[in-house]
Amino acid sequence: MPNNNEREQWGSRIGLILAVAGNAVGLGNFLRFPVQAASNGGGAFMIPYFIFFLILGIPLMWIEWGIGRHGGKFRHGSAPGMFDMLWKNKAAKYFGALGLFVSTIIMIYYTYIESWTLAYSFFSITKTYFGLESFTEMKNFLYGYQGRIETPYFEGITLAYLFMLITFFLNFWVLYKGISKGIEKLAKIAMPALFIFAVIIAIRVITLGTPDPSIPENSVSNGFGFIWNPDFSKLGDPKIWLAAAGQIFFTLSVGMGTIHAYASYVKPKDDITLSGLSTSTTNEFAEVVLGGSIAIPIAVAFFGITTTTAMAKGGAFDLGFASMPLVFERIPFGEFFGFLWFLLLFFAGITSSVAMGQPVVALLEDEFGMSRRKAVATLGAVVLVSVQLVIFFLKFGFLDEMDYWAGTFGLVVFALIETILFMWVFGADKAWIEMNDGGDIRIPRIFYYIMKYITPVVLLIVMIWWFMNDALPILMLKNVDPVNVPYIWGARIFMLTILLAIFWLIHTAWKKREMN
Ligand code: ALA
Repeated sequence: MPNNNEREQWGSRIGLILAVAGNAVGLGNFLRFPVQAASNGGGAFMIPYFIFFLILGIPLMWIEWGIGRHGGKFRHGSAPGMFDMLWKNKAAKYFGALGLFVSTIIMIYYTYIESWTLAYSFFSITKTYFGLESFTEMKNFLYGYQGRIETPYFEGITLAYLFMLITFFLNFWVLYKGISKGIEKLAKIAMPALFIFAVIIAIRVITLGTPDPSIPENSVSNGFGFIWNPDFSKLGDPKIWLAAAGQIFFTLSVGMGTIHAYASYVKPKDDITLSGLSTSTTNEFAEVVLGGSIAIPIAVAFFGITTTTAMAKGGAFDLGFASMPLVFERIPFGEFFGFLWFLLLFFAGITSSVAMGQPVVALLEDEFGMSRRKAVATLGAVVLVSVQLVIFFLKFGFLDEMDYWAGTFGLVVFALIETILFMWVFGADKAWIEMNDGGDIRIPRIFYYIMKYITPVVLLIVMIWWFMNDALPILMLKNVDPVNVPYIWGARIFMLTILLAIFWLIHTAWKKREMN
């Protein structure tokens, strides 16, 4: 019987919306988006991006809120229990394993990247990297910090390790404090702060104009032009479409299991339609308006379009961690703007990474009856041990392998499963009533058809396309440095171990329940 009495709940509506928006707004908005846009044709990228936002992003957001709140009525805060409620079949709960797998794997490497942002806000205010003149030097500074290469700037990875520990501690402290006293409180501080920082930085960028008048084409306005002038001829390239779909998933945090977990703490009759829409639009505002007004325009103004594109293609973190610091050195009060930029990234990161921890915590609490303290400590131990692999094997592609299988491929597979379960197995009509129940707005009827037909078909196409074009070559270790091969296999064995452990947990929990 539905019984929600003892579960935690969100303290306020605004707190809930900020927390879910915090879940979505993350490093993806400010680091991943500019890199994806710049390396996939700028304006050409934005067309498939908005199309996928409408046919995948928003529908999945409502689907996940719907599944989450429905599961919460039965005291389930993670995908296995939620799926068990949607489909009366013994196999249902095992499909939910993917929701726990994706969020946990991403959390392991994401918190480490998040810790770099904290370190760099410190390096900015203390002007540690000031004086490094070229892009190569700045990149070496980053690589030295990460322990990829020996540099005069750092002694091994001691400092990176220290910042990882601080970040790890903050994340688990927030998780330990719980839904309303931890996650909600964090969101209420971090989200407004993040928006204020982003607006300050965006205004600074816009007022930069043409930093070097002798090169008029290197200007902020050309940077905006690069993102907003679509080159229709590039739309024939499937790579751009797939990159756009991948960005929509990652940035909205759909297909991860985290939106469901948050939605499970909503009261049974509370609105989810308007909340789902506001979190999606808040995320898009943060990504397109704010994220799009910082890294690319600033890089184009200082380095030109060709170099910016090359920087973006050169590495996932080069725009954020190498080109931005070069600019901060060159502008008045750059140490202050650098501090704000990296602190903004940190706030964006931590409100997302705590969300990635919540599904496993909910599984341990709801299905095993563990106290929050014990559940958080268990997950903390797993993450702390696992992150060692990411830190020490970073240069051998360990993180990239995890990012591909969990952060790119896993999301679309999980999204496809949940869409089929909710819209087809549970049933589109019941799902529609469930989503709209208690809603402050009614979801436009067209989305019924989108969710039922278009979203799953598009997900299937994207999944197959990705499998053929990316997953297969990656699986077969095409274009991999032979030195990295053992580490990549190590990453795969590690991920498989985590997945099997999750299956085992689900199996044990349900067995225990049957016995009671
Ligand atoms: N949605 C989160 C981000 O954009 C994971 O970083």
